[in-house]
Amino acid sequence: MAYLLSKEDFLKISEFVYRKSGIFLEQEKHFEKLAKFIDSRSRALGFDSFRKYFFKLRFEDKNGDELQELMNAITVNETYFFREKEQFEVLVNTILPELHKTLPASRPIRILSSPCSTGEEPYSIILHIVEEGKVVEQRDIEVVGIDIDSTVIQKAKIAKYNDRSVHAIPKNILSKWFDKKNLGYELGKDLQGSVDFQVVNVFDKSQMRKLGKFDVIFSRNMLIYFDDASRKEVAMTFYDMLNPGGYVLLGHAEYMSRIVSVFRARKIENTLIYQK
Ligand SMILES: C[S@@+](CC[C@H](N)C(=O)[O-])C[C@H]1O[C@@H](n2cnc3c(N)ncnc32)[C@H](O)[C@@H]1O
Repeated sequence: MAYLLSKEDFLKISEFVYRKSGIFLEQEKHFEKLAKFIDSRSRALGFDSFRKYFFKLRFEDKNGDELQELMNAITVNETYFFREKEQFEVLVNTILPELHKTLPASRPIRILSSPCSTGEEPYSIILHIVEEGKVVEQRDIEVVGIDIDSTVIQKAKIAKYNDRSVHAIPKNILSKWFDKKNLGYELGKDLQGSVDFQVVNVFDKSQMRKLGKFDVIFSRNMLIYFDDASRKEVAMTFYDMLNPGGYVLLGHAEYMSRIVSVFRARKIENTLIYQK
């Protein structure tokens, strides 16, 4: 099959993707997916060469729509409710009670899910908080979910999920907080709107700054798609966005000690968390 994208062009566009998103594309793994995407977008735009498509992407994409299409196509959005659930348990059993004790009573505790994909992670945070109940009874807790992919953010706001997505939620919690529909489950009205979802690129410093300061940042299963330099940059952005004493939680295959040394690692019930 002949694609518009050549092996040399792959290097150009993967360098562009890396600069824009930190995502590191490898020829062996990603060539075909990217080539198919460029063929389809070129057809839609009436272009007959990669050069024309790439020109549009770089110089004639003032509102960023074409870049958004590209980002939506290359991201890996795999997620599900209660994934690596020990971390949610550490959040409600240790981190929140500790923050509640030390922070001024008048201010909310702020939690960022970065990246949140289709919303399962921030809603899992909310479900654990409401199920645990004690801290949320006494003070406001805000949860913000961000992702570079606009299609997943749209889905997160709609909050409709299939069986695979909810498979790890205990049955009593599922029936309590979700409405069973013909084709899956819908988050119940009580929890709709409980997460503030936004399309944000973690490398866009001004977008990140606008989100404000946080007490806890979940950043699970995104840094694995970046190279060392990008991981370092994002880790330092998180450091700047955390209030003193705030926490970062990473995915099981991600270790802060391999990225930066500014955080203090704490092990709680076999779960590593990182404190500013
Ligand atoms: C595998 S999902 C992880 C979702 C969730 N945190 C979890 O662990 O289940 C990775 C997500 O990272 C997002 N992502 C990749 N690069 C990003 C960037 N530069 N800024 C924000 N989100 C990004 C992707 O769009 C994708 O939805």
